[in-house]
Amino acid sequence: MTNSSILEKLNLKNKTALVTGASRGLGRRFSTVLSKMGANVVLAARNKDKLKETEQIIKNFNGECITVDIDVNSEESISRAFEKGENKYGEISILINNAGIAVSKSSLKTSIEDWDNVINTNLRGVFACSKVFANNLVKQKKPGKIVNISSIAAEIVLGNYLSSYCASKAAVSHLTRTMAFEYAKYNIQVNAIAPGYILTDLNKNFFETDEGKEMIKTIPQKRLGKPEELDGALLLLCSELGSFMTGSIIRVDGGHVIG
Ligand SMILES: NC(=O)c1ccc[n+]([C@@H]2O[C@H](COP(=O)([O-])OP(=O)(O)OC[C@H]3O[C@@H](n4cnc5c(N)ncnc54)[C@H](OP(=O)(O)O)[C@@H]3O)[C@@H](O)[C@H]2O)c1
Repeated sequence: MTNSSILEKLNLKNKTALVTGASRGLGRRFSTVLSKMGANVVLAARNKDKLKETEQIIKNFNGECITVDIDVNSEESISRAFEKGENKYGEISILINNAGIAVSKSSLKTSIEDWDNVINTNLRGVFACSKVFANNLVKQKKPGKIVNISSIAAEIVLGNYLSSYCASKAAVSHLTRTMAFEYAKYNIQVNAIAPGYILTDLNKNFFETDEGKEMIKTIPQKRLGKPEELDGALLLLCSELGSFMTGSIIRVDGGHVIG
């Protein structure tokens, strides 16, 4: 075994990945890293201006990408996004189900509409995107990899106000296992990353509060994570280094759950 054969396995040249929620935060980072490793990236989200910013970051190092409009709550928009990606690059063999939202409210105050928004975006969206992705590959008899972005919220209760979010992520983690089981026969691997707190737009307001600052002290590594600290888990699951993994959920949380 040589260093170059390990690096070869990490290489994503001639692969195409679709990343949902690529307009900012973790999705922007995932898209950039996949591109740096040689993949063509289909950048999918709703905010066109922010998507263009991600596209520019990738174009600045001569990476290959296109932007597509996607609302993971709309099956029609999901189908159109995959079609556009495939028309440009051919088959899409990596799907990063990253789009997600959180509504931070007491359960007593969470409306049914809030609940539906969180569950539909975080859970139904993962199911709907995976279904289009996997059906395309099964038809073509091609292998593929799905990486779902779950959370440590799937395992532990995060504060008082995130019931819908925690429930959605617990379901995403278990959906990861059920899809992995079912798709193994088609050579489609399904895994998840469960990040702890990584500073992004999703949580930056919370970490400016006293409660947020106290929370950081409870994390064994005593700090928030940075988006780039998910690169290792992402590349393991997207590359041939992770070829014998399916149904796994990789926690990257500075020890939050064990603390
Ligand atoms: N940051 C953390 O600490 C952390 C920890 C654990 C898990 N996560 C998970 O990681 C993922 C990314 O989080 P983040 O921190 O990067 O959040 P973020 O900065 O708020 O970004 C969320 C992304 O999701 C997209 N999105 C939301 N609703 C969408 C919809 N209906 N259709 C398509 N795209 C949609 C947004 O794009 P548009 O608004 O442009 O559509 C945006 O790109 C989420 O699933 C989150 O639950 C984050």
